[in-house]
Formats: sequence, structure tokens, C-alpha cells
Amino acid sequence: MDAFDRITTKLDVKEYDPSKKVSPDVKLKVLEAGRSTGTGMNTQHWRFILVQEREDLKRLAQDSTTGKWVESCNFAVIVLTDPKLGYHLIDAGRVIQNMQVTAWNYSVASRIFTGLNADSFRKDFGIPLELNPTIVVGFGYPLKKITGKRKNRKPLEELAFLGKYGNRLDRSKIH
Ligand SMILES: Cc1cc2nc3c(=O)[nH]c(=O)nc-3n(C[C@H](O)[C@H](O)[C@H](O)COP(=O)(O)O)c2cc1C
Repeated sequence: MDAFDRITTKLDVKEYDPSKKVSPDVKLKVLEAGRSTGTGMNTQHWRFILVQEREDLKRLAQDSTTGKWVESCNFAVIVLTDPKLGYHLIDAGRVIQNMQVTAWNYSVASRIFTGLNADSFRKDFGIPLELNPTIVVGFGYPLKKITGKRKNRKPLEELAFLGKYGNRLDRSKIH
């Protein structure tokens, strides 16, 4: 599959098969995909923590307010960013999307969460105060087969315009 197919078939999954292990090679590829991502002014301020021990994934779930499902993941990546940089959230979004698409290329599903109990999370994972715990991405093989089910997305004509805001996107006029 090419990148477009990977993106259009990817769904964010909450149920993982904890008995299916993701190989070290795929985990490394996910981290390398992160490292290869561009950042504003090439600052490369993000830091990644690979979480793969069952008890650490459990702790991650306990520290989370919106990602309890991470407990059943095979591994997770905590993405830390430097909040002093105005564009740090854009950088975080780019890096996790590259990680997720790379994982899906090897049939490994994923989902992200942002809701954290910051104090216990910082303590449990040794996060320095100068870095922001921005996103956690959980990965694993999905419990249920992901079929070619269409995504729940608004039609393109509602989201995109031609030339000027409000101008209908007439597909026959794209040249
Ligand atoms: C910025 C952002 C924050 C998100 N936060 C959470 C979260 O805290 N917990 C969660 O379970 N999913 C979270 N998600 C996942 C979204 O709910 C998911 O991407 C959306 O429902 C589309 O899912 P689909 O691609 O499977 O259709 C987040 C996604 C984004 C892009």
C-alpha cells in the first residue's frame, strides 16, 4: 500500500490484542519515523519515551484521564515537547502522525490521548519540569480486524474551498 492508502484506511483503535507482540524492528521504525520528522527551525525539541513493560503501561493508564485503553496496548510512546516554542504543538502533531502511519504500514494500529494527571505522570515517568507531556500514543495489533470501513468524515466539499473561502470546490475545475 502507498502512503495515501495507509492514511485513508487508518482508524484510531481502543481495543488491542495484548497477546500479540509488536517486533522490536517495528518499534524502532516508529521511533525513527519520529526522529525523521521536521520541526520548526529544526529545533528537534521533542523527546520520546518508549513504554513497553506491562506494569508501566498499567501505570500510564492510571495516570491518564482519557486513555485508559492504553493498558491493553503492546507499547506506547510519550511525546514531550518544549512549551517555550510557540509551534511546539504543531511539531507534536506532525511527529505522532508520522509514527502512527509508519506503524499502520506494518498493520500495527494506534490511538493518541492527551488527558493526563500531570503530577503523577511526571513522577512516574521522570518527566523534567521544562518539558511538556504533550501526547501519548498507544500501539498494538487491533483486537478486531480493521476492514476497509469508511471513516466518519465530513465531505471534502464541506471542508475545502477553491481559491477563496466559501467558493465551492468544483472537482472538474481542479487543473
Ligand atoms: C488532538 C487529538 C487529541 C485526541 N485525544 C484523544 C484522547 O484524549 N483520548 C482518546 O481516546 N482519543 C483521542 N483522540 C483520538 C480521536 O478521538 C480520533 O482521532 C477521532 O475520533 C477519529 O478517529 P478515527 O480516525 O478512528 O475515525 C485524539 C485525537 C486528536 C487528533
